[in-house]
Amino acid sequence: MYTPTQLQEVIENAIQHIQYPKQPAKLYEPISYIMSLGGKRIRPALVLMAANLFKTEIETAIPAALAIETFHNFTLIHDDIMDNAPLRRGKQTVHEKWGVNNAILSGDVMMVESNKHLSKLHQEVLKDALDTFNTTAQGVCEGQQLDMEFEEREVVHIDEYINMIRLKTAVLIGGAMKLGAQVAGATAEDANQLYKFGENLGIAFQLQDDILDVYGDPEKFGKQIGGDIIANKKTLMLLKLKELVNENHLAELELQSSNSNQHEKIRNITALYDTYDIRTLADAEMRKYSDQAFEALKNLAVDEDRKAQLNLLANQLMNREY
Ligand code: IPE
Ligand code: IPE
Ligand code: MG
Ligand code: MG
Ligand code: MG
Repeated sequence: MYTPTQLQEVIENAIQHIQYPKQPAKLYEPISYIMSLGGKRIRPALVLMAANLFKTEIETAIPAALAIETFHNFTLIHDDIMDNAPLRRGKQTVHEKWGVNNAILSGDVMMVESNKHLSKLHQEVLKDALDTFNTTAQGVCEGQQLDMEFEEREVVHIDEYINMIRLKTAVLIGGAMKLGAQVAGATAEDANQLYKFGENLGIAFQLQDDILDVYGDPEKFGKQIGGDIIANKKTLMLLKLKELVNENHLAELELQSSNSNQHEKIRNITALYDTYDIRTLADAEMRKYSDQAFEALKNLAVDEDRKAQLNLLANQLMNREY
């Protein structure tokens, strides 16, 4: 079995070798820019690791890994436009650097590039791979739509929030694993069991992302701290806070949603989170989903020693700082 570090090397190397057309430069430069900024490369690592559970050679799964990472980077460009985000992976976002219209179009062509990677897969796995990829990509769009709609909504239930993050984030993590398994010829049952693992892990991953958005170290996190607070995102932390606050604090919280002083808004809402120890509640919710993920992994019919590297990667992920 490959280790997470070895897989990351395989992926970096494959990404460096992707050739994009040169012209128009403003269409393709943003793609090279975002793709070379690094990031954790978890999704392609999960594609390859899932494939490696069923097959020793992972070369044939590389196009699937590249398709997933290219798609992920495309969603980040468009997500940063929608979230009005200035920073990504510690650098200026694509729309800040090249303008919104350019960022839209470079994102669009990345979706095409993802399909070009997929078309390199062997014919016998292509249909299943396309089905998984398309279902996944559509789920992400649905989740992103809900995420935006919730910004404007007064009341969002916790189960609606969980469903939203399942779609915008977890479906891609699960889809990456399912795709890797399918490409390596796994049975439908094993591929679906891995999907379950990935989906639960993905929910935990987004819960953690929301926690880091408030409590992360700005140097390590690489994104603007408090971005979710500024955008009135209905995160689990905010929903829990609304459940718990007393009358005075509720009035203060309601005032904040229209506070245009961003610095003050972040400071005040974070102080309320601290008062009600919301971080501990959010951590517990995150653990609940990561426990479910590890449970699903236990039920996967593959030798325990083959699962060890996947366990390692998932544990690293659950303890990340960026
Ligand atoms: C960011 O994903 C988007 C979310 C789903 C939270 P990652 O945290 O995996 O971003 P990179 O690829 O490592 O930069
Ligand atoms: C991530 O949600 C979902 C997608 C990018 C599809 P966020 O908006 O929380 O991701 P970050 O925090 O900007 O990476
Ligand atoms: Mg965002
Ligand atoms: Mg977003
Ligand atoms: Mg986030």
